[in-house]
Amino acid sequence: MCGIIGYIGKRQAYPILLEGLQRLEYRGYDSAGIATVDDAHGTTTITTHKDKGRVDVLKQYSSVGTMGIGHTRWATHGVPSTVNAHPHLDCSSSIVVTHNGIIENFRELKENLSGHHFRSQTDSEVIAHLIEQHYKGDLHHAVMHIIPMLKGTYGLCVLHKNKRELVVARNGSPIVLGIGSGEQFVASDAAALLPHTKQVIYLDDFETGVVAENGMKIFNKNNQLVTKEIKTVAWDVEMGQKHGYKHFMIKEIHEQAQVVRDSLSIAVDIPLLNQTAEPKVKKLFIVACGTAAYAGLIGKYVIEQVARVPVEFDIASEFRYKNPIIEKGDILLAISQSGETADTLAAVSLAKQKGASTIGIVNVMDSTIARIVDYVIYTRAGPEIGVASTKAFMSQLIVLYKIAEQLSGTALGLEQLPLLVEEVLKKDAAIREIAKKYALVYNFIFIGRNLSYPLALEGALKMKEISYIHAEGYAAGEMKHGPIALVTDDVPCVAIAPRDSVYDKMVSNIEEIRARRGKVIAIASEGDHAIQKYCEDVIFIPRINDVLTPFLAIVPLQLLAYHIADLRNCDIDKPRNLAKSVTVE
Ligand code: AGP
Repeated sequence: MCGIIGYIGKRQAYPILLEGLQRLEYRGYDSAGIATVDDAHGTTTITTHKDKGRVDVLKQYSSVGTMGIGHTRWATHGVPSTVNAHPHLDCSSSIVVTHNGIIENFRELKENLSGHHFRSQTDSEVIAHLIEQHYKGDLHHAVMHIIPMLKGTYGLCVLHKNKRELVVARNGSPIVLGIGSGEQFVASDAAALLPHTKQVIYLDDFETGVVAENGMKIFNKNNQLVTKEIKTVAWDVEMGQKHGYKHFMIKEIHEQAQVVRDSLSIAVDIPLLNQTAEPKVKKLFIVACGTAAYAGLIGKYVIEQVARVPVEFDIASEFRYKNPIIEKGDILLAISQSGETADTLAAVSLAKQKGASTIGIVNVMDSTIARIVDYVIYTRAGPEIGVASTKAFMSQLIVLYKIAEQLSGTALGLEQLPLLVEEVLKKDAAIREIAKKYALVYNFIFIGRNLSYPLALEGALKMKEISYIHAEGYAAGEMKHGPIALVTDDVPCVAIAPRDSVYDKMVSNIEEIRARRGKVIAIASEGDHAIQKYCEDVIFIPRINDVLTPFLAIVPLQLLAYHIADLRNCDIDKPRNLAKSVTVE
């Protein structure tokens, strides 16, 4: 996905757009650009600066105009390069477009634009030329005319050098309008607007808008004026700052005890899951991607073990294409930090089409998934800026455990967690010392059983996505069925082995690895000194009942990955090839 920012008002646009792009950079950062409308010596021109690389490349430029748009890119079509960076211009350099999404039919559209001079290999540029082709003096009208031609998804912000307005359009990629006093803003994420306003309007799919400095008009797909609710963003600017931490990720790891505390106050009493009335919940479906999926897999284990309600779990990109057996009366639970992940969104849409009820566990308010599900529960993680998800995972777990409590009518003792998570966070420095021993390895194996199996998957994901070390997560019982062939003395293995119901089996796995000269880093329960004789290193976590182990065991896995990545001088908050939310397939 990409970041879009727009400004129209009385202030110089360039610094506002640049700062907005810096706040949006987690959405994509392989190239960036800004275009402003500058009036000088009686003529109006478009000034465009764009480069390959991070948003900071734009710091060397400036311009005087008071209207403009900016973009930070995560490439889908066309390599990261200056020419492929947005904004894109039409032939006459009068129309400027920034786009988030994918135009699937851009090649055939280009074929019908003979005579137009294309500068880039992107799908997005075709939009600028289509508007040019149909522009007759009314920019909104031209945009309305061309968007039915577009197959795929778009979040658009468009300007014309001779029109004092920004035109926006949305289908599948978020567009948020920020309301100022004598100035207005456009962004793909409300967090970018926080220094200027907390009053926002979220566009819905197929809506368009005309944003002038003294107000805005929103239209539905039939070009009828609609009235939209003005929302107040719950977050403040402070929450999006690093506060002295080296990276957002380490800050967000250390926020987790507070996030758990905040999340404990989330009221989870979902009417769809009311077990005191008929029909009782017979089965749940859980879908998500990445880290959210691993939270969902833990949720499956806990709901089944505690509430004895069967849960069918799928990663969303599989669910949406396997023709799932889900129907009216079924309930699908979608988990997403951003609320914009394309595969998860598609899974929810498919479930709805099949008549199922849908519940969302989402962190970003009014995000697309939050708005299309039948019932949404907002996690309380605050803005998660680091691309690698940590505190959102913790808050997702709290909600999932509360769902298990609601379905089972039992309490799981969650209130003890904040202090225990604080205890584990105090091991940060000790974990860095361990990380120093493994910062140069080329492979990692992570193993766990039962509730620690999804943790092994998540620990491996954290390691690979920020340190770029190849890491595999396995069910420990699977080692003998092949993966143990990977074990040598330079392939360390992280074994999540708390004193739980499968502890003895984990110790056997650890011994099997040691017998092949494998080095083991164990996540173990305090007081378990026996395990130390099998392991190279042990990270102890407070002893707690089995079902709550994931809340404590995940923290050392996050810290180990973070410190190894830091020791390798990796770009931890913006890892290569990644973006904070994958809004394209
Ligand atoms: C996890 O660290 C990654 N950032 C990624 O796997 C992420 O969890 C996944 O893309 C899902 O994102 P979502 O929670 O916003 O839907």
